[in-house]
Amino acid sequence: MPGLHEVATALVAPGRGILAADESIGTMSKRLDGVGVDATEDNRRAYRDLLLTTPGLDAWISGIILSTETLGQQLADGSPFAAAASARGIMPGIKVDAGVTPLPFTDATVTEGLDGLRGRLAGYRDAGAVFAKWRAALAPVGLSPRAIHANAHALARYAALCQEAGIVPIVEPEVLMDGDHPIDTCETVTNETLRAVFDELDAMGVDPSGIVLKPNMIVSGSDNPDQAGAEEVARRTLQVLSNTVPPTVPGIAFLSGGQSNEQACANLAAINARAATDEAAPWRLTFSFGRALVNDALQGWAGVAEHIDTAQRALADNCRRASEATASASAPVGT
Ligand code: 13P
Repeated sequence: MPGLHEVATALVAPGRGILAADESIGTMSKRLDGVGVDATEDNRRAYRDLLLTTPGLDAWISGIILSTETLGQQLADGSPFAAAASARGIMPGIKVDAGVTPLPFTDATVTEGLDGLRGRLAGYRDAGAVFAKWRAALAPVGLSPRAIHANAHALARYAALCQEAGIVPIVEPEVLMDGDHPIDTCETVTNETLRAVFDELDAMGVDPSGIVLKPNMIVSGSDNPDQAGAEEVARRTLQVLSNTVPPTVPGIAFLSGGQSNEQACANLAAINARAATDEAAPWRLTFSFGRALVNDALQGWAGVAEHIDTAQRALADNCRRASEATASASAPVGT
């Protein structure tokens, strides 16, 4: 059995990243509605089947994050999703948080799901999951230290439980890009958030060499007319990461957060190009995108069996572009 560090390192192996296909039943149902597909359990299954059976996916994808519903489902050929992913050279992971709820006396949310998590993790591990994901969602404007602390604390308790169970935690504190705030706000809030997250991980005894960090890039609010370009995104993102992330963390896999595939890949390429000559950026820098990989496939498919090939080609193209954007990460400074 590979250890936590080996699995974490394999998830961020050169040229490969993580496919986030773990939308909750509610979110996935909305996305299916959006393309005119009935939001049934079997249509959610069929869509994830399409994603996982994309020919050649393992060239670019190291791991796939599944929802609990999908973990209990099978491909059309009868093989369970986790076993089918492993057989394709793709590590199966599982989203274990239970979503967000309002945090009292703030305008913020905190992520739920710690109760009973130890027992659930044992079940997920038995079902084949080798890594997990927990997402904290932080709206940057008006965010209070209390909200940052509550979310960082929950992430750390989740991560400790995962490592105790022999499962690699993906630690995802997402500072949302929705809104018209300037890039400075994203930078300040992400810096504070990551600092709090790593303080809490340390306090909970989490081994940083056995996690993957899944942060947002430092970007302008999506409704801000003044959008920072890729060079600025890269400079600010690496500055925040080098301020806050221990060098022993093997890899950082960014979420896409609502960016298009083109935007997210341009930013990831600029981050990697800059990191290649930056001593303060020793980690592998890759992707754990959801929408930036799958949106084109979902729209191309739209529930029509004859469109599966086209949809799979769209997913493959998006994954290949994301993989190419990590190219200079294959030789990070200091290795
Ligand atoms: P997006 O890349 O669509 O933001 O999704 C990543 C993810 O896993 C969110 O939790």
